[in-house]
Amino acid sequence: MSGPLSGRTAFITGATGAIAEACALQLARDGARLALMARRADALTQVAARIREQATGAEVHELCGDALDEAAVAGALQHAHDIAGRLDIAYATVGGGAFKPLIEHTAQDLRDAFETNVVATFHVIRHAAPLMRPGGSIVCLSSGSAQLTFRHLAAYHVAKAGLEGLVRMAADELGPSGLRVNAIRPGLTRSGATQAMFDGGAADAFLPEYPLGRLGEADDMAGAVRFLAGDESAWITGQCIAVDGGNLLRRSPDLAPLPVANPQYQGRT
Ligand SMILES: NC(=O)c1ccc[n+]([C@@H]2O[C@H](COP(=O)([O-])OP(=O)(O)OC[C@H]3O[C@@H](n4cnc5c(N)ncnc54)[C@H](OP(=O)(O)O)[C@@H]3O)[C@@H](O)[C@H]2O)c1
Repeated sequence: MSGPLSGRTAFITGATGAIAEACALQLARDGARLALMARRADALTQVAARIREQATGAEVHELCGDALDEAAVAGALQHAHDIAGRLDIAYATVGGGAFKPLIEHTAQDLRDAFETNVVATFHVIRHAAPLMRPGGSIVCLSSGSAQLTFRHLAAYHVAKAGLEGLVRMAADELGPSGLRVNAIRPGLTRSGATQAMFDGGAADAFLPEYPLGRLGEADDMAGAVRFLAGDESAWITGQCIAVDGGNLLRRSPDLAPLPVANPQYQGRT
């Protein structure tokens, strides 16, 4: 496909997620060749099919694997590189955390959140960078929760704050190699993880804190990721850009009334 990213290869983890899929579609429409990684092969095949259908001529490769498994990520990145002898964009999207009062968190909850949000992203940065040439762009998926506290999302808040530290460190150290590292910080966005909040009305508690008057859709993230992936952001690195309808201008809703024990709400913000 022709477009501003024509000829470039983009690797994406967590590619079966709603945000990842919307962004992958945009990158494909911009001409990038996609190498998509997720654990569920069937879901990945469905995502790839939808992208091929909506972006005619898109080249989409499916790489099944767990983003927490360093060897699997390294192998998938090498595979992505070897498709056309180049790796231009790496987008690390895996993350998440459970709703739970701080006092009920275990140390293992914090370790798990760190592993899912920080270490999974580290694997991508660590193994993508050596395969990239100057001009390469690494994009990460943070959250408004890295900045705002949300009651009952402690482990997630701490992990996303850690992820943003990783983004800054990586940007500083990889800058001299001509590589950029940035992140987007979504506000509450409809996805597999949050659909129950939208369906059950819990998401309505967020609305007064969103100056633009609505909550996020996965497509809202695609423009920002496209910008960070491509040359228009060539002199931007180490930044975490809020894509949140202005939520960071205000505050977080009080999530404490949510039925935290309800597994429906194992979502993220
Ligand atoms: N939705 C929001 O409101 C929101 C707000 C701020 C930030 N975020 C961030 O956005 C990211 C994605 O969230 P989403 O809302 O789009 O979620 P989602 O639709 O629920 O998708 C998450 C995807 O990640 C994949 N995944 C999870 N663990 C994985 C692993 N270990 N290895 C490979 N893939 C894995 C899953 O696919 P498989 O099961 O197929 O592997 C799943 O499809 C997270 O980092 C989250 O913190 C979301």
